[in-house]
Amino acid sequence: MVQVRKAAAAIGAYVTGLSLEALVDDESLTRRCLRPTSGRSPGAKVSSCGNLDPRSRNLGRELRELLLEHGVLFLRDQPLSAAQFQALARRFGTPLHHPAYPVAPGADDVHVLESTSEAPSKIEKWHSDMTFSATPPSYTLLHGQIIPEYGGDTLWASATAAYEALSAPFKTLLDGLSAEHDFRHGFRESLAEPGGAERLAPAIAANPPVRHPVIRTHPETGRKAIYVNSLFTTRILGMTAAESREILPFLFDHLATDEFTVRLNWAPFTLVMWDNRSTLHRPINDYFPQHRKHHRVTLAGDRPQ
Ligand code: SIN
Repeated sequence: MVQVRKAAAAIGAYVTGLSLEALVDDESLTRRCLRPTSGRSPGAKVSSCGNLDPRSRNLGRELRELLLEHGVLFLRDQPLSAAQFQALARRFGTPLHHPAYPVAPGADDVHVLESTSEAPSKIEKWHSDMTFSATPPSYTLLHGQIIPEYGGDTLWASATAAYEALSAPFKTLLDGLSAEHDFRHGFRESLAEPGGAERLAPAIAANPPVRHPVIRTHPETGRKAIYVNSLFTTRILGMTAAESREILPFLFDHLATDEFTVRLNWAPFTLVMWDNRSTLHRPINDYFPQHRKHHRVTLAGDRPQ
C-alpha cells in the first residue's frame, strides 16, 4: 500500500510501498505484475502489483501533486538502472543537460555526480539547481549509487516557508527586486584548477550571467518563495553593493533556518525528487575520503516570474 509520511514540519515526505521500476520497465512489469491466465488462454493478466497499478497514467500526476505539496519526496529501495532512471525522469518532463557533469553510459540524460578521494566534490553551498540558466530546472531526480558508510547526507530547505516567515514590510521591499546569478560564481573553484578555465570555457560562453526575481511565484501553486542562493547569486540589482552585501547573506542564513529544513541519510538506491522552484538543497561534504556517487536528471523549467 502506498503511504506518504511527512518528514519534517515545513518540507519533505517519505513515500513507501511504491516500486518505480514497475512504472518504467515493461520487462519488470511482466515479471512482477503479470501472471498467466488459467486454462488454455495464452494470455496473461495484470495482478495487483502491490496496491499500485503500474500502468496508471495517474501515477506521474499523483507524484507531481505530492511534490507540489511537500517540495521533496524520498523513496527508499528503488533499484533502477541508469536507463530505467532516465525513462522514469522522462515521464515527468524534458531532461536538461548540465554543462559540467559527465553522463552515464547508455543514458545520455543521466548525469553522474561523483566524489572520490582524488576528485572530492566542491558543491557544498545551499542552492537550487542551475539558477545560472535563464530557464532553470523545475524538478530534479537524484538516485543513490555509491553511498559512504558515514556522512554525505543532503539537506533541503523550504524557500516557501522561509518567504512566509518574513515580515510584511520586508516582503514588500523584496517583492520587486531582481538578482544576478552567475555560472562562474558557482564553479569558481573548478575554474581555478589547472585546466579548469579551458575545460569550462564552453559552459561559460553558453551561460552568461542572468537575472531572476528575488521572490518568485510558483507557476503551479501560486505560492511565493525566496529565489536566491549562495552558490550562484552574486548581487541584488538596483541596490548599492553595500546594501546587497547586507541583504543577500541575511536571506541565505534565513533560508537555512533549521525549522525550514529536512535532512536525508542516503542508502544505495534511495531516490529523491524535488521541486527547484520552492526548495533549496545542500550536500554535506563530511565523508572525505570515501566514495559517493549519484545519478541525476534535471527537468526543464520556465523563466522564473
Ligand atoms: C545536487 O546538488 O544536485 C546534488 C546534491 C547531493 O549530492 O546531495
